[in-house]
Amino acid sequence: MGAQDYTIRLEEEKDYRAVENLVRESFWNVYRPGCSEHYVLHTLRNDPAFIKELDFVMEKDGKFIGQNMFMKTVIESDDGREIPVLTMGPIGITPELKRKGYGKAILDHSLEKASEMGFGAVLFEGNIDFYGKSGFDYAGKFGIRYHDLPEDADASFFLCKELKKGYLDGITGVYQTPKGYYVDDSDVEAFDKNFPPKEKKKLPGQIFD
Ligand SMILES: CC(C)(COP(=O)(O)OP(=O)(O)OC[C@H]1O[C@@H](n2cnc3c(N)ncnc32)[C@H](O)[C@@H]1OP(=O)(O)O)[C@@H](O)C(=O)NCCC(=O)NCCS
Repeated sequence: MGAQDYTIRLEEEKDYRAVENLVRESFWNVYRPGCSEHYVLHTLRNDPAFIKELDFVMEKDGKFIGQNMFMKTVIESDDGREIPVLTMGPIGITPELKRKGYGKAILDHSLEKASEMGFGAVLFEGNIDFYGKSGFDYAGKFGIRYHDLPEDADASFFLCKELKKGYLDGITGVYQTPKGYYVDDSDVEAFDKNFPPKEKKKLPGQIFD
């Protein structure tokens, strides 16, 4: 990655299919044979919780090479309040440019914009090795639990970053994944037919069948 050899801007309607294809390329065979994230993005754009002012694409040499987006959700606090927070993703970088710093660049840019808009915290599922470099920590350290996860289960995938320092002070509770992230495999299959054929592979490290 050279000094600023990319641009980041908001996604526009004319970009939709190309960006879905980018997401498909980024996630293909990473977490399961094939992937569902391109369809997830496709449906989330019409969700009331989707934040179009935080729907970013990254371009280099006239091509999309990365994207990231945010959704509104809540922490159901143990004292009965709903604390507004953000969740994030899919975030993806084109396979041939992974591990060159572009992911961190779009992540940091989009977190800064979310912060400027006044949001207090971001929580989601991810790998601390990547997100830790942008200030994320385990959500458990903030007193926030992941919905439907048994108390003794490993929650190291569940991460949090405060955008306003102290936003989660004095709050304990349960984070809710927005419903829009849950999609039917049959809908994913049907949607995927709109894209060029691509081989699904079972690979080591995948976490879903
Ligand atoms: C995850 C992803 C967005 C990261 O973007 P990237 O451009 O590859 O990452 P960067 O080069 O900016 O990474 C910065 C640092 O984070 C760490 N990191 C990045 N990806 C990592 C991974 N998969 N595992 C462990 N550490 C990782 C590394 O320390 C890296 O620095 P290094 O390459 O010098 O060691 C990208 O690899 C991707 O699209 N992956 C497939 C889709 C996906 O998993 N999305 C995230 C779902 S939560």
